[in-house]
Amino acid sequence: MAEEAVLGFLEKNEEITDSGQFAAERGIDHQDIANIIKSLHGFKLVDAQDIKRESWVLTEEGKTYAAAGSPEVQVFLAVPPEGISLDELQRKMDPTVFKIGRSQAIKNQWVEMGKQLTRKVQDVDDKVKDLLIRIQDGEVIMSVIDLLSLFQFRVLRPWKGYSVRKGPKYAPRRKKFATDLTRENILRGDWKDLEFKEYNFSAKGQPVGGGSLHPLLKITRFAFHMKTAKIIAKAIVVIYILVIAGHCATANQDDFPADGVPFHLHIFALVSPQEEGECKVLDFWSWALVFAYRFEEMPTNNFVESSFWNFDALFQPQQHPARDSHDTFFLQVPSTTKMLPEDYVERVKHVHEFGGYGSRGYGYEWKREEANKNLLRTHTTAVSSRMLYSLAQVCLHSSVLTVCACFSLKILMLLHVLLWRIPVLLLVLEVDELDKGKLNECLNPASISGGHGFCDTQHKDFVPKKYFSIDRVFRNEAVDRTHLAEFHQIEGLVCDRNLSLGHLIGVLNDFFSRLGMSKLKFKPAYNPYTEPSMEIFSYHEGLEKWVEIGNSGMFRPEMLRPMGLPADVRVIAWGLSLERPTMILYGVDNIRDLFGPKVRIHRVQWILVSSRKTLSVASEYKRLA
Ligand code: PHE
Repeated sequence: MAEEAVLGFLEKNEEITDSGQFAAERGIDHQDIANIIKSLHGFKLVDAQDIKRESWVLTEEGKTYAAAGSPEVQVFLAVPPEGISLDELQRKMDPTVFKIGRSQAIKNQWVEMGKQLTRKVQDVDDKVKDLLIRIQDGEVIMSVIDLLSLFQFRVLRPWKGYSVRKGPKYAPRRKKFATDLTRENILRGDWKDLEFKEYNFSAKGQPVGGGSLHPLLKITRFAFHMKTAKIIAKAIVVIYILVIAGHCATANQDDFPADGVPFHLHIFALVSPQEEGECKVLDFWSWALVFAYRFEEMPTNNFVESSFWNFDALFQPQQHPARDSHDTFFLQVPSTTKMLPEDYVERVKHVHEFGGYGSRGYGYEWKREEANKNLLRTHTTAVSSRMLYSLAQVCLHSSVLTVCACFSLKILMLLHVLLWRIPVLLLVLEVDELDKGKLNECLNPASISGGHGFCDTQHKDFVPKKYFSIDRVFRNEAVDRTHLAEFHQIEGLVCDRNLSLGHLIGVLNDFFSRLGMSKLKFKPAYNPYTEPSMEIFSYHEGLEKWVEIGNSGMFRPEMLRPMGLPADVRVIAWGLSLERPTMILYGVDNIRDLFGPKVRIHRVQWILVSSRKTLSVASEYKRLA
């Protein structure tokens, strides 16, 4: 309609002098006319010159009065012929309309105030409303007096329109050019008469996506940063050293400041999408802290695990439904494991059958064949159980040599702190390596000799540890928009004396709020290996509901004590989904769009775009809603 109006007008007239007026006279929206003029100008059907000026537009308030009438008329109409008390009128009306309208109506001498408010005239004209409508319709010329009477209902805005004349390719109607030669064109034979649009060889085309990080990788990336952190921390920690030196040798419960949030959680925040979706890389200071309060990465490079480490070591009974092949992928080749630490296996068997450490056990006959079965690990807690076992072994096996070496290194370190501060970090690293070497040795079950019995005494050489991992787990689940059979878990644990549920809540709150997810709920839950246990829920603004994002708890003595950990050692632990928080943070409503064989090309494009440019999480939420 707008196009016909413009071309039709120019057929009989020289010029459209002002597109604003032209649109207003025809009751067409000026934006539509402007768009058409731009397009016709592009095809040289018309010649358009810009007209720029400032024009009046209505404020939000102005718009409401243009629709409902001016405040004074609204007040006038609300006063019945017999009059009304001010209080009653006020109750009947919108407070702003009442306030502006009452004084204006009195000023106009439409109503008067005696005991009551009464009408002085029969009828009134709503001039203000008429003027507002004229502004709304784009009327350009108005008297100063008229404008003054509208005071706060209008504002001056820059306005752009056009004056238009015929262009070199003017025609009363625009010819439609064909863009494609279709099968139908050929069958009908009308291709002979078609005029084709010229190719625009200088058009830019679709932007090509460059390589960039997948959102899942971005959330995972801190593991990489932790390695980098070690190198960078060496360079910058000189300034920090005095503050942290006391904590370097061994971490202890002082790592938890009064608010219950441990510093070592900094590692989890190395990459955290901010409100704007951009990655925030922790500054160097935090890296130094990460290093000082080291969370060690667990070796998770074994997707195949034995049922023993995946279930039995975690005090999960052999009849537990999760061990069913409906939930677990068992391996056919090799179907069983051959290497388990025999003395520990015996202790696990015992605790399952008869209990111990204040527990009654499950009272069933524990079968070795069941524990030997190989599977694809269903959770990375299997790795935690291996690590804790190894830690207990380090604690049991600590050789005099190791103790001496550590001791002398610590003395050296102290001297360095006092005398010359720079190389301290290197020494800390060495202590680390020493511990790790021992750990790795113990991780290999073949290297563990039997006969180390329970360890009920307090270990002086127990070393508190903090571990984390992010890696793949497998569950035989029906795949839907929130479930995959293969996904990732963020596993973590802190093993120390005097830990409580408060620490666990502090850790999780801190972790997720660094990821920009501060609306969390903890729900009591049940796991065979933790008591108490808590499921973690986060509020998904887009889906407008609470979504489960992880599970956590304090490992039970039935799990820790057979390993050989001291009775007073507590372990807080968590297993979080990597995909769920990523979905929440990136506004993804179908997990299959994020990971797995069904990620489609256009989604890949989305992933590239979202990971390259600033992503407004808020707008993604809106898109979902
Ligand atoms: N293993 C649990 C899961 O897969 C998570 C968890 C880890 C729970 C550690 C408690 C402690 O859901």
